[in-house]
Amino acid sequence: MACRFLRLVVLSALLAVITSFPSLVLALTQTQCEFPAIFNFGDSNSDTGGFAAAFGQQVPPPNGETYFRAPAGRYSDGRLIIDFIAGSFGLSYLSPYLNSVGSNFTGGANFAFAGATIRQQTTSSSTPFSLFIQNNEFNDFHPRSQMARRKGIVWQELMPKEEDFSRALYTFDIGQYDLTVGYFLNMSTDQVKAYVPDVLNQFATYIENIYLQGGRSFWIHNTGPAGCLPYLLDQLLITAEQVDKVGCATPFNEVAQYFNQRLKEVVAQLRKDLPLAAITYVDVYSIKYSLISQASKYGFKRPLVACCGYGGKYNYNIQCGMKIIKDGKQILMGKSCKDPSVRIIWDGIHFTEAANKWVYDRIVDGSYSDPPIPLKMACHRFVN
Ligand SMILES: *[C@@H]1O[C@H](CO)[C@@H](O)[C@H](O)[C@H]1NC(C)=O
Ligand SMILES: *[C@@H]1O[C@H](CO)[C@@H](O)[C@H](O)[C@H]1NC(C)=O
Repeated sequence: MACRFLRLVVLSALLAVITSFPSLVLALTQTQCEFPAIFNFGDSNSDTGGFAAAFGQQVPPPNGETYFRAPAGRYSDGRLIIDFIAGSFGLSYLSPYLNSVGSNFTGGANFAFAGATIRQQTTSSSTPFSLFIQNNEFNDFHPRSQMARRKGIVWQELMPKEEDFSRALYTFDIGQYDLTVGYFLNMSTDQVKAYVPDVLNQFATYIENIYLQGGRSFWIHNTGPAGCLPYLLDQLLITAEQVDKVGCATPFNEVAQYFNQRLKEVVAQLRKDLPLAAITYVDVYSIKYSLISQASKYGFKRPLVACCGYGGKYNYNIQCGMKIIKDGKQILMGKSCKDPSVRIIWDGIHFTEAANKWVYDRIVDGSYSDPPIPLKMACHRFVN
């Protein structure tokens, strides 16, 4: 009797869930997506060698040492979140679009570039490869890859098929530098917030552009808690009242959260405007902040201190990979810590492979996504 009652309760609870999220259930009963390619856009958080190719200068050792055993164009001791995403679909690690030697684009291309912003910048210190340029590169890559395929067999093994542009997953991880650029120009938080809508309007036009070229599945990371990174904590003036209990700079994190709220609204509007698109918004901010704020609970140590570097409160006085000349010899000063596998921040700006994997593991099941669908379901459109 009690058992039957319980079953009834469970059943009606289940029914309540189903009726409030009918299309979610529909999405979850659909088959897993088989993305034949990934096209990624972003900054150094997902740059797999674009910067290195453009500036003819490899990311220095000890970057790459944990996984690749040598520098691999990535700002980390190993793999990035985008590498784990590509691997989960059985795809090779993405070749940077700018890498002219030895690239294989059958499984997609990576347009990400270290330091990239969404908006084109005018200051000389910022990278020219903004999302505006990355979008132009995609516009070039799409038709030219098809022209190359028509040339013959070798090219067919190096370039994606036309239909793969519609079946691909389009991933985005960008915005952090749009916010910090303002601070480095001495703007106030209010001044930075004031230009966020323009940044996001531009972001939306790039999604629309890809949609018009057949793109249907979009996976968009929001921006992380940059106020917890040594490169900001060390370089910008922060008063004691502006530091939270974890040690992160509150103004930067608040502006990141402001950006993320607006981004979420822009994504909701894009779902209305692009009726065939499946667009997933992923709350990377919350994942990264919970890792940094509860580091020891998750097996990590010294959450705000760079693993690779030398000197100062954040081990960031001399940056990762930097050398000094002493007694006529070059000496590597920006060295790795002993055990990057228990550290979160790699070089003061980017995460270690261990932290990237930890973040990926929470991205993949959809618990931080809107709609809450796993990565493997990201081709299915769900609108509540
Ligand atoms: C490029 O990668 C694809 C997929 O991994 C593979 O099938 C193809 O043989 C590669 N092309 C060349 C020329 O190595
Ligand atoms: C920002 O302010 C600092 C300190 O007053 C100054 O040294 C720096 O030149 C300023 N930067 C810009 C871009 O105005």
